[in-house]
Amino acid sequence: MYPLSYRSPKTAVRDSSIHGKGLFAFDDISREEIVAVKGGHVLDLDTWRRLEQQLGPAEIQIGQSLVIAPVENDRRDGSMIYTNHSCAPNIAIQGQIVFVAMRDIEAGEELTHDWATTDDLDYVMACNCGSHECRGTITGKDWMKPALQEKYRGWFCWHLERKIAALRTR
Ligand SMILES: C[S@@+](CC[C@H](N)C(=O)[O-])C[C@H]1O[C@@H](n2cnc3c(N)ncnc32)[C@H](O)[C@@H]1O
Ligand SMILES: [Zn+2]
Repeated sequence: MYPLSYRSPKTAVRDSSIHGKGLFAFDDISREEIVAVKGGHVLDLDTWRRLEQQLGPAEIQIGQSLVIAPVENDRRDGSMIYTNHSCAPNIAIQGQIVFVAMRDIEAGEELTHDWATTDDLDYVMACNCGSHECRGTITGKDWMKPALQEKYRGWFCWHLERKIAALRTR
């Protein structure tokens, strides 16, 4: 069966020091190169919250109350991108589902994105990214922090770009 998501042949899923498995560069990757494209079913958040109890975290938020995620256990791995969060990320979503490199990446580096660039959700998580820039605790509302809006200008996913633009024109 074909996987629901695309992971570049320059990537590999391996054990991560951040958490469980992570996505790693298997080869050098250039800035703006596509590293993965998230696939799955388009679900409303309430439906996903029910499915998530069996499937575990596997979604990407694409709108205020919409996610893309697997709906069956045997398709979960093929839908997973396996990107852990880092406060010093090297990839980001452009649009809704396309992950690209934010800079040139060397083979062996873990591919991480800052969930501040994708999430508008209600959660608090102790961060284990280990970077010098680590915020210690991350939340599903970090996109609202002015310093992060500045840091990630041009690297937010579509629904957050719109929300940030709306805040600026108020
Ligand atoms: C979609 S999974 C990412 C892949 C995951 N490492 C795995 O093996 O399935 C998201 C989960 O990874 C963990 N995680 C990712 N980044 C983390 C971080 N920086 N600190 C702590 N836990 C993290 C959290 O438990 C989160 O719910
Ligand atoms: Zn961190």
